[in-house]
Amino acid sequence: MGKSYAEIIMPYKDKKGGLIEAFHALQREFNYIPEEALKEAARIFKIPESKAYGVATFYSHFSVEKRGKYIIRMCESAPCHVAGAGEVLKALEQYLGIKVGETTPDGKFTLELCECVGQCQAIPVITINDDVVLSVSPERIPEILKKYE
Ligand code: FES
Repeated sequence: MGKSYAEIIMPYKDKKGGLIEAFHALQREFNYIPEEALKEAARIFKIPESKAYGVATFYSHFSVEKRGKYIIRMCESAPCHVAGAGEVLKALEQYLGIKVGETTPDGKFTLELCECVGQCQAIPVITINDDVVLSVSPERIPEILKKYE
């Protein structure tokens, strides 16, 4: 069992900018800010829920949509694109059974796109949370994702 929402939020309660820091902490833990956590934050910081929601949606860094434990990002900048990013993306969608922007029903994986991550020497590139996976091909997808299952 992980920490409760309140346990994550509490340490920031009396800090300046604490709400934002609490949101960062929540997102680190869950990859997004669950609705119940938003409500908990509003209660702890004694602000209306609408305000907590407003802050969370104002910053593009935060997501209030459910996201998976692992965020897979396909680089779609030109060099990766030319090297076959489209094929890799198709293979990812097929393997996971979801489209870009969606999360697998088991809450494991979310599929997103990203810009060049500075690894153009070994393209196409995907990232999985903080891991960078180089020279990806459609055939390698099952083997790559196995590590995270
Ligand atoms: S274009 Fe994809 S890593 Fe640079």
